[in-house]
Amino acid sequence: MPDSIASGQPAAVPFSRARLAELISRERKAYQARHPASAAAFAEAGAHLLGGVPMTWMRMWPGGFPLYLAMANGSRLTDIDGNEFIDFCLGDTGAMAGHSPSAVQAAVASRYGDAGGATTMLPTQDAEWVAADLTRRFGPAYWSFTLTATDANRWAIRLARQLTGRPKILVYSYCYHGSVDETFIVSAPAGPASREGNVGAPVDPRQTTRVVEFNDAEALDRELAHEDVAAVLMEPALTNIGIVLPEPGYLAAVRTLTRQHGSLLINDETHTFSAGPGGCTRAWHLEPDIVTMGKAIAGGIPAGAYGLSAELADRILSDQSADIVDTGGVGGTLAGNALSVAAMRATLEHVLTDAAFGLMIAVADRYTAGVRDVLTSRGLPWTITQLGARAEYRFCPKPPRNGGESAAAADRELDEYLHLYLVNRGVLLTPFHNMALMSPASTPADADAHAAVFAAAADELLA
Ligand SMILES: Cc1ncc(COP(=O)(O)O)c(C=O)c1O
Repeated sequence: MPDSIASGQPAAVPFSRARLAELISRERKAYQARHPASAAAFAEAGAHLLGGVPMTWMRMWPGGFPLYLAMANGSRLTDIDGNEFIDFCLGDTGAMAGHSPSAVQAAVASRYGDAGGATTMLPTQDAEWVAADLTRRFGPAYWSFTLTATDANRWAIRLARQLTGRPKILVYSYCYHGSVDETFIVSAPAGPASREGNVGAPVDPRQTTRVVEFNDAEALDRELAHEDVAAVLMEPALTNIGIVLPEPGYLAAVRTLTRQHGSLLINDETHTFSAGPGGCTRAWHLEPDIVTMGKAIAGGIPAGAYGLSAELADRILSDQSADIVDTGGVGGTLAGNALSVAAMRATLEHVLTDAAFGLMIAVADRYTAGVRDVLTSRGLPWTITQLGARAEYRFCPKPPRNGGESAAAADRELDEYLHLYLVNRGVLLTPFHNMALMSPASTPADADAHAAVFAAAADELLA
């Protein structure tokens, strides 16, 4: 009898844990053997870098050490051992425009090199162009820039509290919106709880935040009825605990309930931008009060943005008690800098265009169909969910309805096996989950290459 696998999984899975452990061990050895220069670079890096890496998340890669980057272009990346990869991780969305697209290269070279002046505390004319394009895509009338999506969310939350005079926000269980203090909370059987591993929380997040499961309108109504929630901060589809899509009518219910209870609605489109040129907001005709985003919009150069409705913008600008031009807690020295704004313009004008999304989504359709074919033909009780140019497989037979269900389907061993198997054969997925993202440079052949390696991984597991 095969062993049962992690919680959330049916018992009758057609492979054994012993077989999986054997394959992981083999793939770890192959990873070591294929990447000696990366292994050596990592061994040397521990002297001064916290955790041996420039940013501690980079420890998340499977195999015991990260690959060291040599070069990247379009949908391809080369490590310092000379191995080439089809990159579906794309910097966990930061490189959704593809690596170093030529239009962004030219804009960066021009701004930083020819014209000069990356950071001056002075505006450039690119900024109005970018804001107008974000309005065209996402709807909100007025925009301000940040350096990260985390900051876009932080500042949007501050503005929402100021505008409503309410202390709390509401988020979804197992959401991720960046390192925003208020968001590290989950729904647990005994009630809301700080998320496991929450580092140095300033206060118990239950003091600042209400939390509900996605796709549960009744719970949302119950929590908003306290009338102390300044804003619901949400991804229109969850993307950081697998992909969890909204059920028909759910997002309409969110909008009705937030209006009814006087809470603002913030759509965080940082990842759901994959749904189309204006993210889910435009694709699904949503009407948030505020949109936040980051990562992809400047072709990999740090940039984020938040947009407000005209009414909210008027109110905050005329609020004498809100200092938004100095030390009131909204803004940053390098935010809106000339280099980021030039890169945003080039990315939006020439790379992540409306037409590009058509191509990216077509490649994602092919990727998803390829994975689905492997799952069906092998009888694997897993599922794949697609959101425009992004797709992710999950180890449960039906798409999860909410963050809690999706978290229960996590399986670290399967993750490690599949990531290592793929990376050892030249395919890179995002390390935090089984996410694949398509850039304008991704091709149908890339999708087919993934399907072939994924099929081989499944066959070895089932052998
Ligand atoms: C939906 C969402 N919002 C915000 C962020 C924060 O982005 P950053 O780490 O670039 O600030 C993330 C990061 O993964 C995200 O997935």
